[in-house]
Amino acid sequence: MRVMGQDSGNPSSTLASVDRRAVMHPFSNLAEQAKGEPRILTDAKGVFVRTADGREYLDAGSGLWCVNVGYGRDEIADVMADQSRRLSYASCFGGFSNESLIELSERLLSLAPKTMSKVLFNNSGSEANDAQIKIVRLYNNLRGLPKKKKIISRHGAYHGASIGAGSLTGHPAVHRNFDLPMDGIFHVDAPDYFRRPDPSLSMDDFCAQLVRDLENTIQREGPETVAAFIAEPVMGSCGVIIPPSGYFRAVQDVLQRYDVLLIADEVITAFGRLGAWFGSDLMGMTPDLMTCAKGITSGYFPMSACLVGSKVWDVLIADSAAAGIFGHGFTTAGHPVGAAVALKNLEIIERENLLLNASRNGEYLLRQLRARLSDHPLVGDVRVMGMMCGVELDADKATHMPFTDWQAKASAFSNCCWEAGLMVRGGHGKVMAALAPPLILTTGEADEIVTRMERALEFMQRRLDARA
Ligand SMILES: Cc1ncc(COP(=O)(O)O)c(C=O)c1O
Repeated sequence: MRVMGQDSGNPSSTLASVDRRAVMHPFSNLAEQAKGEPRILTDAKGVFVRTADGREYLDAGSGLWCVNVGYGRDEIADVMADQSRRLSYASCFGGFSNESLIELSERLLSLAPKTMSKVLFNNSGSEANDAQIKIVRLYNNLRGLPKKKKIISRHGAYHGASIGAGSLTGHPAVHRNFDLPMDGIFHVDAPDYFRRPDPSLSMDDFCAQLVRDLENTIQREGPETVAAFIAEPVMGSCGVIIPPSGYFRAVQDVLQRYDVLLIADEVITAFGRLGAWFGSDLMGMTPDLMTCAKGITSGYFPMSACLVGSKVWDVLIADSAAAGIFGHGFTTAGHPVGAAVALKNLEIIERENLLLNASRNGEYLLRQLRARLSDHPLVGDVRVMGMMCGVELDADKATHMPFTDWQAKASAFSNCCWEAGLMVRGGHGKVMAALAPPLILTTGEADEIVTRMERALEFMQRRLDARA
């Protein structure tokens, strides 16, 4: 790397000082970041990544939940190079299209629930969820229901960081200081049974209470003003929250009663993460709109998609003349290189049977984590669905008391995992490791995750003991 005005001494510390001087890092404490040591990745293969100082880490978080087929696939790199040489850019505005995009749209609809009718490409999950807000508004404007615009989301949900999607997100850090959420977005409780406020509630009673709260919220706001409910089939960023069985069926009964659309945010859960092409299939959801990103290209190229169900599409097309042009789109959305990458990525997922591997080896990982970690004094809960797994810590195991200063402890635990050679995701409001390894994970690598997690827990225990 060329570093202007600097001698190149130790390349890794030179990179670090330039990073501190030049890079503004998302989701970081800006002042601390400017003093800290960036973790600079240089190369990666399979489930392992290497840093500039030559250390190797097992990436049990698939980057940001996205590297479904694993790192360093030559065949994806080849397709990227070929497509770049053949057609390096094409817009899909107006009547323009390209072969890869057309093929990918058809492929996505063949994998998605049969009610899905059209694909609208964007670049990121946030953009796609912003587009969903606009589609919902357009749908109700065209139906002559201009007051029906509000969207209900859930506390702790992550749907993106832009103005619209960030409003749907239910994390205070995404709202605070940015004057969010914008008007017309509301949040109800997440189906987090492990941390239910009333521990005496059974799973069924807890589920019934959540559904009642949703219905009360719709009634309070006025059903004529509520347009949609957005939900991840399994919540990722707030800590792998697997809803009680029957939750989505009961939620959908309420939504149908009040003519409220269901948007399934499948940005994490699609393309094998839960052991199926889409989480909606597994969770008994029948969404009207679906959002996908991340695993669509396994993170090799920025791409996202809104899948539009026929119920919504039929209104958009019928009233298209009245609506005029669909005034939405991005320069690089539907990029031919991204589409070619996505097609190859989906081919790999199918050819290597990664859906089956995700459910089989996800189960294996669960068994090993439970067998080797459940008795650890810090471990409160271990949960898994497909290749999405949460190891949540308690401040007091006997009473399942959570840590009160969760942010400091969460950051300490994440550092302990890093020291143990493991990259994990956290969970908003929790001290935990969210594990979402690439779907190619072998049983040997699953064992390695558990061994490194044991080490991380040991480090964490020592830190807590030192402070006691
Ligand atoms: C469920 C969900 N939706 C949307 C997003 C936003 O995606 P992006 O970061 O690509 O904007 C994320 C990102 O983590 C996500 O997990």
